[in-house]
Amino acid sequence: MKINNPEGWKPKYHWPIRNFYKSLDHPGVEVLSCTENEVFPLMQEFLTEEFDPELMIEFGFSAGGMTLCMHEAASYVPLWAYDCYSIFAPMGKIARSMKLPVLNQVELEAYQMNFVNDCFNANVHFKKIDLLSSPKQSIINHLKIGKRKFLYCDNGDKPKEVSTYARYLNKGDALGVHDWGEEIDLSYPDVEEALFDFEDHPMNEKFIEQGLMVRIFIKS
Ligand SMILES: C[S@@+](CC[C@H](N)C(=O)[O-])C[C@H]1O[C@@H](n2cnc3c(N)ncnc32)[C@H](O)[C@@H]1O
Repeated sequence: MKINNPEGWKPKYHWPIRNFYKSLDHPGVEVLSCTENEVFPLMQEFLTEEFDPELMIEFGFSAGGMTLCMHEAASYVPLWAYDCYSIFAPMGKIARSMKLPVLNQVELEAYQMNFVNDCFNANVHFKKIDLLSSPKQSIINHLKIGKRKFLYCDNGDKPKEVSTYARYLNKGDALGVHDWGEEIDLSYPDVEEALFDFEDHPMNEKFIEQGLMVRIFIKS
């Protein structure tokens, strides 16, 4: 999917991001859908005050909530977001749990256009791809680039995505993982092996203090 930079787009740094997403600046984009959006302030603190990435990569963008969080923190940085399936909008069970109306096709397309065109600039590339059926060379090439990278893993099978792709990051790169302690941790032998040369980032203490399931590791 090619994202054009809509005329008049200006970088914004809104806080908290959920309010931004409900902003009247973006009619039709009503509710941010993201698992554990309480992570946003710490994630943005990490990106802006601690890490200063030159390239960001997200596995599993779903409805784009975390993509927007990362993009707002560093909108000048290229961001490649991958998912095997996304319609950008909360639908079905998730929509009902958020008490959102179920959108018809026309409303859904308007919602998607508003979200993608109003909230992201041309640095963001949404790509549809199955990351796990086999290691994808185009992504491996990105992970090997000699820039300071942040890879955020929130895909359907975290142990598999981490053990498949984390090895291609370079020294000093950061790996973010969601659902730590629930779907992934060091008790998985493949994960322990993949993270052998990664160190906990101090931000993890804050994630743990707040009961959040994101962890960040730096390749040593
Ligand atoms: C937990 S959701 C991601 C949530 C999102 N990061 C957020 O913060 O709201 C997991 C996503 O991984 C995607 N996914 C699952 N298996 C995949 C695969 N093999 N390749 C690519 N994406 C996959 C799903 O389509 C789903 O959108």
